[in-house]
Amino acid sequence: MVKINVGGCSSFVKDAEYQKYVEKALAAYDVLEAESGAGNDFLGWKTLPVDTPESLIADCEAVRDAWSAKGVDLVVVIGIGGSYLGARCAIEALSHGFVRKAGVPQIAFAGNNLSEDYLAELMDLAQQRNTACVVISKSGTTTEPAVAFRIVKEYLEKTYGKAEAAARIVAITDAKKGALKTLATQEGYKTFVVPDNVGGRYSVLTPVGILPIILAGFNMREMLRGAAEERAALLKKSADNPAVQYAAMRNLLYSELGKKVEILVTFHPKLQYLGEWWKQLYGESEGKECKGIFPASVVCTTDLHSMGQFIQEGDRVMFETTVTVQNASREVVIGFDGQNLDQLNYLSGQHVEHCNKMAQLGTQLAHIDGGVPQMEVCVERLDEASLGALFYFFEFACGISAYTLGINPFNQPGVEAYKKNMFALLRKPGFEAQTEEILKRIQ
Ligand code: PA5
Repeated sequence: MVKINVGGCSSFVKDAEYQKYVEKALAAYDVLEAESGAGNDFLGWKTLPVDTPESLIADCEAVRDAWSAKGVDLVVVIGIGGSYLGARCAIEALSHGFVRKAGVPQIAFAGNNLSEDYLAELMDLAQQRNTACVVISKSGTTTEPAVAFRIVKEYLEKTYGKAEAAARIVAITDAKKGALKTLATQEGYKTFVVPDNVGGRYSVLTPVGILPIILAGFNMREMLRGAAEERAALLKKSADNPAVQYAAMRNLLYSELGKKVEILVTFHPKLQYLGEWWKQLYGESEGKECKGIFPASVVCTTDLHSMGQFIQEGDRVMFETTVTVQNASREVVIGFDGQNLDQLNYLSGQHVEHCNKMAQLGTQLAHIDGGVPQMEVCVERLDEASLGALFYFFEFACGISAYTLGINPFNQPGVEAYKKNMFALLRKPGFEAQTEEILKRIQ
């Protein structure tokens, strides 16, 4: 289960002020729990850990087994934003960093950019492999995944024939509407549904995350169990509730101390994509009406050698939340060297993770001295259950935090702005009227 420590903020905030924000967060908690706030038709994510049917997991495992029987060793997962970040986060966190597990396909993500080189190189890989594809778009109309899917679909049909290609494609989309739904029905693809009442960035525990995570060889039942345990803990309304504490402290730091940037810190490279998933969750949920904390992320100690100077001494706009993992999964001990030319014998016999923890503590203290408040979110180990707990914790806390700030956490009206310009520039039918106007602006 997730633990939180807000002690690294104590030298920056007065206790009475913190208590005031705990009260505000508890009021927001009530709104979230009573489902009476803005966007309350998008709260389906709250019960996913306890109401995901076993038949859905079994159905996803059947896809895994069918593709395994065909010898599939590459699955291209197409999606953008909430339609890929959760799965990518889980898969990168749980996978070996360098060696692919025998019998498990490589998962390659696509449709999250419009780079021609990226797609060309992905198709180079597909040509060397036995390939299948999962295409994910809740709306079924997003341009980036649609472009990638058109290219991958054409490749699969040319390589394996139309019927076999259809058996190598799964679509995850709306139950009824959208271009992807129409296409999937017409081509006879196996389809999973993104529930209407779950927004993209809250969808990691729907088929959007479940299928890719199962295909990558991980235990979704354990992830849901971890999320369900976390949900049970967070349903206890109190000032000690970790989600309430997190929401209260970040709102206080933002509203009273002008800390407009939150950096999610990890000392585990495998958690780099937790930062990417979290940035979307908080950025898209809170960044509205000219309000919101700007979410950033760093991986340490790597980024202490790039961003460390700014965090220590640059503009004092930020606070940090470090996601810590109590126990390493593997052991590497630093040896003794008779010559000691590298002068590291003082570390001989130590676990590398001990050095990592001391680096983390040293960094947190230095950053407090430098005026950067610190929070810590902790899990026991990096496994499926802990990730499920982390996903649920951050989602639940995001709902409370955004309601504390007076924002609807479940819409994303600003995402449309770039699309209108892009469509006009690409001369998409229906957008011609804006094209000349936009062309004038960029000349
Ligand atoms: O959180 C969200 O709703 C968005 O980030 C979407 O996930 C993203 O825009 C992709 O949308 P879709 O799944 O409809 O293609």
